Amino acid sequence: MNPLSYQSGFGNLFASESAPGLLPVGRNSPQRVAGGLFAELLSGTAFTAARHHNLRTWMYRRLPSVVTQPARAYEGAAHWLSDAGQGLAVPPNPMRWAPFGWPAQACDFVDGMHSLAVNGSPQAQSGVAVHVYLAERSMGRTALVNGDGEMLLVPQEGGLRITTECGVMDVAPGEIALLPRGMAFKVDLLAARARGYVCENFGAAFRLPELGPIGSNGLANARDFLSPVAAAEPETVQDYRIIRKSAGQFWLSQGNPTPFNVLAWHGNLVPCKYDTAHFMVIGSISFDHPDPSIFTVLTSASDTPGTANCDFVIFPPRWLVGEDTFRPPWYHRNVMSEFMGLVHGQYDAKEEGFRPGGASLHNAMVPHGPDSDAFHKASQAELKPQKLDHTLAFMFESRYLFRPSPFAMNHEGFEADYWRCWQGLNRPA
Ligand code: FE2
Repeated sequence: MNPLSYQSGFGNLFASESAPGLLPVGRNSPQRVAGGLFAELLSGTAFTAARHHNLRTWMYRRLPSVVTQPARAYEGAAHWLSDAGQGLAVPPNPMRWAPFGWPAQACDFVDGMHSLAVNGSPQAQSGVAVHVYLAERSMGRTALVNGDGEMLLVPQEGGLRITTECGVMDVAPGEIALLPRGMAFKVDLLAARARGYVCENFGAAFRLPELGPIGSNGLANARDFLSPVAAAEPETVQDYRIIRKSAGQFWLSQGNPTPFNVLAWHGNLVPCKYDTAHFMVIGSISFDHPDPSIFTVLTSASDTPGTANCDFVIFPPRWLVGEDTFRPPWYHRNVMSEFMGLVHGQYDAKEEGFRPGGASLHNAMVPHGPDSDAFHKASQAELKPQKLDHTLAFMFESRYLFRPSPFAMNHEGFEADYWRCWQGLNRPA
């Protein structure tokens, strides 16, 4: 199998064609498109959004995406929720889950999607839903069109081959993928099984955070985001199932030509992937450490400046050198709500219990911080330079309170005695 090709740069205006001459020059919608293709525009923002926020891509394809069989209600995706609702009590306790196991019946990416916590609504165009996918089958000739939100994938186990209307990307644990709202895609497995976290973002599209005094370089650099090049499936690929998600409901259309029939495209509404190993980590070289916002990879703004609909934050390998400093995260209560997962290794605020493939949730104003063992170890440690290595934790941090799903609250891995991990705290002598 040939390695895939990519083009680089977050937010770039890309142009890609699978054969020379397919992409119109100097206009978007010529009277007749080369190759007998149809022009189709996919808008990711309102037409009139400010220029620096505007997202859209022109596609040149064998058939416009309106050519499908009618959809009827889809019975799958039974554990995928989209609306926080008010049905389930949200205890003001720290919450944690053991790694999520795969379901008894092998599922693909869509049917294996299990919602863990939701804090928004597609119709309100705000908030996010957090899921874990537990997949043991490729989607094959099934495509998903999520009209409700863009999808940020954080693979934890097993590589993925993601086919989109813009082309194909391979994404491995340690990398993340961002898939635009409304763009058809499918997920095939590169290993026997796959598990990972998803932030389904109903709000403003994720973008790179402002850097302020950091300057023009650092954190996630735009050039390290990779987008695919135009690649269509052969015309002979038929009999596709297309699952559409709209207002939290799922709809199935069968017997369609492949939706991956785009031979050329240009625009900035594109899927992309990013290797977190490229994240340039900034921290203290004197004392204390900055707020964890210094680890923000991508941010989805809300209508209040500086108060994110969702920040995607990673805790990658890094050096700790602070003098006279308690180096793990401090104890705190946060007006923002924090959902965390662990891709691999160990998180420095917890000695045990927070494991790869598991999760924790510390909602707004819920006190949390290092467990007793981590505190006692860190407060006694010799403060020599220390490398935190072989670790990748992450956080979806949101201004909106997360409501855990029934699946999460009833899960056998829900840790009812998580609170005990702090009970060993006592005043140091
Ligand atoms: Fe926190």
